[in-house]
Amino acid sequence: MNELQTRKEQALAAIDAADTADAVEALRVEALGKQGWISQLLKTLGAMTPEERQERAPAIQAARGEVADAIAARKQALEAAALERRLASETLDLTLPAPDTPAGSVHPVSQVMDELAEIFADLGFSVATGPEIEDDWHNFTALNMAETHPARAMHDTFYFPDRDAAGNRMLLRTHTSPVQIRSMKEEGAPIRIIAPGRVYRSDSDATHTPMFHQIEGLVIDRDIHLGHLKWTLETFLKAFFERDDIVLRLRPSYFPFTEPSVEVDVGWQDVKGRRVLGGDGDAPGHGWMELLGSGMVNARVIEFAGLDPAEWQGFAFGVGVDRLAMLKYGMDDLRAFFDGDRRWLAHYGFSPFDQPTLSGGVGARA
Ligand code: DAH
Repeated sequence: MNELQTRKEQALAAIDAADTADAVEALRVEALGKQGWISQLLKTLGAMTPEERQERAPAIQAARGEVADAIAARKQALEAAALERRLASETLDLTLPAPDTPAGSVHPVSQVMDELAEIFADLGFSVATGPEIEDDWHNFTALNMAETHPARAMHDTFYFPDRDAAGNRMLLRTHTSPVQIRSMKEEGAPIRIIAPGRVYRSDSDATHTPMFHQIEGLVIDRDIHLGHLKWTLETFLKAFFERDDIVLRLRPSYFPFTEPSVEVDVGWQDVKGRRVLGGDGDAPGHGWMELLGSGMVNARVIEFAGLDPAEWQGFAFGVGVDRLAMLKYGMDDLRAFFDGDRRWLAHYGFSPFDQPTLSGGVGARA
């Protein structure tokens, strides 16, 4: 009995004196581990007579409880002390002055997307999104590009090696147009959306990167015609470039998902080395800049999306966001957009406090 008392007191004293978690753990193993002395004592109970056991068991159990409690308490105390030490060493001096130049900036792509959302919100468009890992059906088939359609070859698609659970061929979306299908399926008609996001094509040079950004527009309603498309694009581009003398040229074109299809160029002129949009397209030093694809949504696409083309018509457009940013803010190499070079970001980036608003001018800059 006395021996138990003595050992217990020795153990408690040792636990109390332990100054690391490892030391406490070693003491726990020594007492309560499989081969620990308390565990061994507990094993002796089996061989005792019931009377002996009745006398010895409570004392051993009590010793085990005391030692276990002491270990838990010591561990907690050591952890609390460690936390205290860490908090004391990791001080933050809030009285220091703010740095002159804030370190972060908003990337021009983010800024332009925000500008576009602001402009289109004013025209009653909401923002829609879709997955970047898309299936073949949404990216191509439902946009009137059947398996054998030659336009598929122009997309330089990144395919995944495996199909999804439903057996669909999976890919990185090559354009934001599949969001048209998803939005019509989910929301039905009428609908007015823009869909900004990342798209992917296996292509790379000064004006092409394997990942780039597009913004898709879609309007589906009753009695929509080409005039609505032209007005919308003109209004959008005037607001975006913040000038009224924007001149558009609409050229007949071909996209499988629109009929008729229209390619839109914007006029520009070069005045004293400065590129200015909105010029007279045919004079020397002037020209047309191809800007976006658009058209009246093909009746087959409306059908694929589950709507009745006899009742619903609309227009769609797709435009490169990076290209818009380059034109508006004057960068000439697209690859620099995605290098993460801090000097480039400091130069072309925007202040996080410079939120685009229509009242402040969408591209307001200090
Ligand atoms: N999806 C086309 C592309 O990436 C762009 C486009 C053209 C989108 C015409 C449209 C459209 O919505 O009507 O090349």
